[in-house]
Amino acid sequence: MTSPAAAPHPASLRSASLSPAGRGTAPLDRVADFPAIPSGWSYLDTAATAQKPKPVIEAIERGYAETYATVHRGVYQRSAEMTLAFEASRERAARFIGARSPEEIVFVRGATEGINLVAQSWGGANLRPGDRILLSTLEHHSNIVPWQLAADRTGAAIDVVPLTPDHRIDLDAMAAMLTGRHRIVALAHVSNVLGSVLDVDRAAGLAHAAGALLLLDGCQAVPRMPVDVARIGCDFYVFSAHKLYGPTGIGILWGRSELLASMPPWQGGGAMIDRVTFEKTTYLPPPARFEAGTPHVVGVIGLHAAIDYVETIGLDAIAAHESALVRETREALSSLNSVRLFGPEDSAGIVSFALEGVHPHDIGTILDESRVAIRAGHHCAQPLMAHLGVEATARASFGVYNGRGDVEALVEGLERVRRIFG
Ligand SMILES: Cc1ncc(COP(=O)(O)O)c(C=O)c1O
Repeated sequence: MTSPAAAPHPASLRSASLSPAGRGTAPLDRVADFPAIPSGWSYLDTAATAQKPKPVIEAIERGYAETYATVHRGVYQRSAEMTLAFEASRERAARFIGARSPEEIVFVRGATEGINLVAQSWGGANLRPGDRILLSTLEHHSNIVPWQLAADRTGAAIDVVPLTPDHRIDLDAMAAMLTGRHRIVALAHVSNVLGSVLDVDRAAGLAHAAGALLLLDGCQAVPRMPVDVARIGCDFYVFSAHKLYGPTGIGILWGRSELLASMPPWQGGGAMIDRVTFEKTTYLPPPARFEAGTPHVVGVIGLHAAIDYVETIGLDAIAAHESALVRETREALSSLNSVRLFGPEDSAGIVSFALEGVHPHDIGTILDESRVAIRAGHHCAQPLMAHLGVEATARASFGVYNGRGDVEALVEGLERVRRIFG
């Protein structure tokens, strides 16, 4: 695979020439690692999905071109080796998020599937009529709809924690809302629209004090900050590999081992059984109990490479880099007339905004002509859009390949949008 990085990336050139003395984005320009980012293109849609670095692409290519075989079943050498690599990825993921053991790591298709698994398996076994589920206004549809389905099936009800004026989940309100009937609290660690970072320690303390479990949707957290589930003290944690510079179609559900052990299977098939007869089937312990069917073998290998990639850079360095980009973006956008910024000042890697009198889709289309890729829409968070009083927002989100030049390209593009719309 050839690298487009032989010539300097214009974003880097712009950032060098535009840096005012004394202010600075942390120097973390990794664009050369990303063959699908051509020179002069500002990719600001990492919250939707991250571009893939060469080590991940190469691991996937090796997985299919050199080492491919099924796992857990083959009696031949190749399959045994692939099984070792597959399980090594589980161990890597466990260390990555501070799990006590690899058995606490369930491979799923992504965060959506992880939440559905908990809602159906844990929810089906534990929720009763009159029980309550606590969500927040800013949740992604993936952390709303599975709970609605579970509530419909079990007779449980859903309550919604409101937001503070600066668009964080209001934990004071949550403290006042929690009752002994709440069985589970499910919240985004980082909002995919606002970038608001949840005070996870306090959320865990509040949930547990009320006797409820805490599930965290870590989709937007794991690519941009260190996560340690044992230190947080949550009960379930989910994320998708594709937002962490890894492949699509693979993600992680982490659950405390005693909880996973108490949960019934949610899908049946091969690989999850102990013994099958027509009279009675018994199941393997977790995580196999929740992994029916042939898994996404090479996706799991790619996830391992993605975790290695971000940890080589360092999650602290990524967090510092993205928060500097967010600060610069918010400063630059707030100096433009008629821009409305959403989310708190210290949002993580994500800036949502609106331009008065211009539909976000028009913003996105005109920015695209300037080779700036942003997301425009409801971001799978329609209840949050209703709360903000908009149909949609424009959203810029950052990754390790972005630099100050991308912020500059965004601002120049928005000035063009304003000129076009008068
Ligand atoms: C906060 C959050 N939760 C859940 C999801 C769903 O992730 P996936 O579609 O990879 O399952 C997303 C993806 O946009 C997200 O940003």
